[in-house]
Amino acid sequence: MNAATVEVHLTDEDLTTALREDVRSGLTSEPKSLPPKYFYDARGSELFERITELAEYYPTRTERALLERVVGEIAGIAQAEVLVELGAGSAAKTRLLLEALISGGPLKTYVPQDVSVTALNAAAEQVAVEFPGLAVHGVVSDFTATLDNLPRGGRRMIAFLGGTIGNLVPSERADFLAGIHEVLEPGEQLLLGAGLVIDPAVLVPAYDDASGVTAEFNRNVLHVLNLRLNANFEPEKFRHVALWDAEREWIEMRLEATEAMRVTVADLDLTVDFAAGEQLRTEISAKFRRAGLESELAAAGFATERMWTDPDERFVLVLAERR
Ligand code: AVJ
Repeated sequence: MNAATVEVHLTDEDLTTALREDVRSGLTSEPKSLPPKYFYDARGSELFERITELAEYYPTRTERALLERVVGEIAGIAQAEVLVELGAGSAAKTRLLLEALISGGPLKTYVPQDVSVTALNAAAEQVAVEFPGLAVHGVVSDFTATLDNLPRGGRRMIAFLGGTIGNLVPSERADFLAGIHEVLEPGEQLLLGAGLVIDPAVLVPAYDDASGVTAEFNRNVLHVLNLRLNANFEPEKFRHVALWDAEREWIEMRLEATEAMRVTVADLDLTVDFAAGEQLRTEISAKFRRAGLESELAAAGFATERMWTDPDERFVLVLAERR
């Protein structure tokens, strides 16, 4: 027996419909692209876990150490009764936040949100067992589509950690922040984790590791299309590319066709030609400057209360109040 419930607002059918539309539009665009959210099937999630353990991939461990150091301060300022965690996944970092918000404040409810019902069920139940007395209400939804399904009532803090905000292009970020503004009441909070602009000599290897795990993670999106849409990509014929766009200040991951290829996506009745050397964009991972983040937040109606960074200034945690 436990206090965990999970509400499903997103069915397999919804996910497949979105996947079909996204793949059709991405593979028929010029240049071709695919959204990064499709990396994360079971294999992709495992590959991402391995990425977080790589020497080159600093974001996860940097954010974690930072959170460990300042979580007490965050809890003290936030005084949250409800913690909503967007993209909670396995809820690994959550424990730190939950412990601090319980011991340093009035936390009563934890609302993990994720697209994966499997990940969420497991995480919600485990948290409920570990934190008796805490109500756990999981929400299965796609936060890039809607935030309407998040519960209201109680002083809330929405946490969006890991630097995933960087996967959105500026216009998507503005829409996303506006959506959060809309669901929150004045005085409620947003806790955001974001990667900072740093030396490309450190940044690029984080997305192009020597052991090739990120390359395999990148190619996984092609495996996902093969499995879910009966496509016939040969993933090993695509080369992993990670480059720093200094103007837009984002890392861009691409898959480069090593030879000319014709691929069919059977479930979409779609044939796609790749020229030798043609690149397919699979992810952007934007990095930020503190002033830029503050002004994006201000434009969406949030006042930045505090920012904390690690000693090397690679990552930032921002606590912002909805005005
Ligand atoms: C999980 C989105 C934060 O952008 O750094 C890791 C994903 N991509 N290596 C990131 C990722 C390539 C990661 N996020």
